[in-house]
Amino acid sequence: MAGKTETGAETETVAVIGAGGIMGLPIARNIARAGFPVRAWNRTRSKAEPLAADGVHIAGTPAEAARGAGIVITMLSDADAVTATMGGPGGALSVMPGPNAEPGGDRTDDPHGPHHALWVQMSTIGEPATKRCAELANGRGVGFVDAPVLGTRQPAEAGQLVILESGPEEARGRIRPIFDAIGSKTIRVGEAGAGTRLKLVANNWVLAVVAAGAETIALAQGLGLDPGLFFGAIEGGGLDMPYLRMKGKAMTERNFEPAFPLRLAAKDADLVRAAARDRGLDLPVADAIADRLAAGAKEHGDLDLAATYLTSAPDR
Ligand SMILES: NC(=O)c1ccc[n+]([C@@H]2O[C@H](COP(=O)([O-])OP(=O)(O)OC[C@H]3O[C@@H](n4cnc5c(N)ncnc54)[C@H](OP(=O)(O)O)[C@@H]3O)[C@@H](O)[C@H]2O)c1
Repeated sequence: MAGKTETGAETETVAVIGAGGIMGLPIARNIARAGFPVRAWNRTRSKAEPLAADGVHIAGTPAEAARGAGIVITMLSDADAVTATMGGPGGALSVMPGPNAEPGGDRTDDPHGPHHALWVQMSTIGEPATKRCAELANGRGVGFVDAPVLGTRQPAEAGQLVILESGPEEARGRIRPIFDAIGSKTIRVGEAGAGTRLKLVANNWVLAVVAAGAETIALAQGLGLDPGLFFGAIEGGGLDMPYLRMKGKAMTERNFEPAFPLRLAAKDADLVRAAARDRGLDLPVADAIADRLAAGAKEHGDLDLAATYLTSAPDR
């Protein structure tokens, strides 16, 4: 499970499940480029194949990718994709060593110790699914780290993600070098589940900015104004925001190459709504945004989140 680098440091073999996605591919590549042996799996194999140029082993099944890996990362669209690839007889968990693994492995009672595999779940899947994943991992005796990320295609490619780490303290030393390879910052949030809750909070903000930005640009255009006048008016002040400018540019230029697909943004808005409902919170704006993104995703789900603008654009 662990080997040595040329400098003699211990390295973990890392499996990346979902290694052909917008996020999974650069994550796998950056881990490989940091010197870790990487084993990758993607449902559509061809999307992960470019990783072979970085020495990544492309596996035929999730279990083949996970076999022999000390750390298994999931970076998949949603909860169903995560549980389908990890659970079940052919899933990655079935080959990950833990105290409840098949006899013959190198085992101790500590599921976060060096001889056990760790599952690092980085997809955005919400609270109930994260709990289910933790239970799946516990059932197997595998350590579980809930670590969703902030950042999109470009920060993922640049190794500049912000990682919202939650899970056992004992796992931290093992995963820190991996997080250093893919992120600019790791925020320790608490026990597994807390990272996912913080991700929902951050996404609520991101989705609100884009939804309100889309309507603001549509309003300017509908009132016969160049949206550039709006951006000029807020420039350099407290209301200015690089993210709004980036998404606003995509809207005015109608360039919706996906960095964060609208279908996934709609999924995340639903996760926010479900979490708020579970806590009895009254968040009507989040509710309206979820409806709006769901409507847009029906037509433009594979375009970037900024394409929510098309639902409001005066000349659509
Ligand atoms: N993009 C962003 O800006 C961003 C930022 C932060 C967090 N996230 C979150 O990160 C996760 C991945 O996002 P992404 O942008 O990388 O999405 P993506 O490009 O659409 O990739 C999704 C991945 O999930 C796989 N997949 C989907 N359904 C599957 C199934 N039933 N069984 C097995 N594999 C399945 C896809 O395989 P195929 O290639 O075969 O379709 C692909 O590998 C999502 O939870 C997303 O919400 C995204």
